[in-house]
Amino acid sequence: MVEKEGLLKVERWLKKEEKQLPKGKKRKKDFRDRKTEQYVLDIPTLETLYKFAHKGILKALGGPICRGKEAVIFHAIGADEKELAIKMYKVNTSNFNVMIDYIIGDPRFENIKRDRRSIVFAWARKELKNLQRAFDAGVRVPKPIACDKNVLIMEFIGKESIAAPKLKDVPLEVLEIDFNLEDLFYRITGYMKILYEKGALVHADLSEFNILMDGYVERDAGATEIEIEPVLIDMGQSMVLDHPNADAFFRRDVHNIVSFFNKLGLACSEDEIMQMVKR
Ligand SMILES: Nc1ncnc2c1ncn2[C@@H]1O[C@H](COP(=O)(O)OP(=O)(O)OP(=O)(O)O)[C@@H](O)[C@H]1O
Ligand SMILES: [Mg+2]
Repeated sequence: MVEKEGLLKVERWLKKEEKQLPKGKKRKKDFRDRKTEQYVLDIPTLETLYKFAHKGILKALGGPICRGKEAVIFHAIGADEKELAIKMYKVNTSNFNVMIDYIIGDPRFENIKRDRRSIVFAWARKELKNLQRAFDAGVRVPKPIACDKNVLIMEFIGKESIAAPKLKDVPLEVLEIDFNLEDLFYRITGYMKILYEKGALVHADLSEFNILMDGYVERDAGATEIEIEPVLIDMGQSMVLDHPNADAFFRRDVHNIVSFFNKLGLACSEDEIMQMVKR
């Protein structure tokens, strides 16, 4: 169950912090930072969340869904009681050098400063823009909602705070009830084609780890009329086709998807998919 009091607590805590400090004075790091670092919710991140709450975008913060290498994802409730996923990039532990490499070749981010904060903030904005581009092209991705600093807010894929499982975690028998495997394969590679043709983007980290199976949670709870469908996630690293590495990453995406389905018993070839997408 979502902790509806979450943001109120954040507010009280921030106010207490402010009161204790003389104006313009920065608080020294202490044990509280170690505690919050575990969850990335450092004070600047909490302040960004608080701004979203003020704008009415965020109503209540729920619990963490996943602690990834570069970001932590939380469940939340937004306007109209809609469930949201909040991705908070870690400013200090992010894989900063890799981010620079990806951002440098992207004409949309030519004039970004090279310091850590600027790069991480640009990365979060890049994920928002990539999701928007994919969404507008008609690819099933979480609908992007807002981004500020290191915090990205998007549609939650799942139900009642339970996130949809990754494709790699859904048992083959279950996939086969809903899909003929070949249909699922062509649905996903079809999204790759739309993303490439209409969105002029390459996902660049596509695999069974970054595809969620929407509808699964409801089906698992007995709602047989709900369809399960694949949703592509995690698009921070996605790149425009003009990026010098776009082609190599596109090949890798195709390789990952084709090998996953081949392991499940489908006989498909990378060349066929390369041709289908680029036709
Ligand atoms: N919109 C969403 N709705 C529901 N769950 C989500 C959403 N976005 C991300 N998640 C969950 O959080 C996990 C990590 O998200 P994502 O892949 O975007 O971040 P990451 O930093 O790349 O993490 P990782 O290193 O684990 O891949 C996903 O595998 C998924 O379980
Ligand atoms: Mg991921």
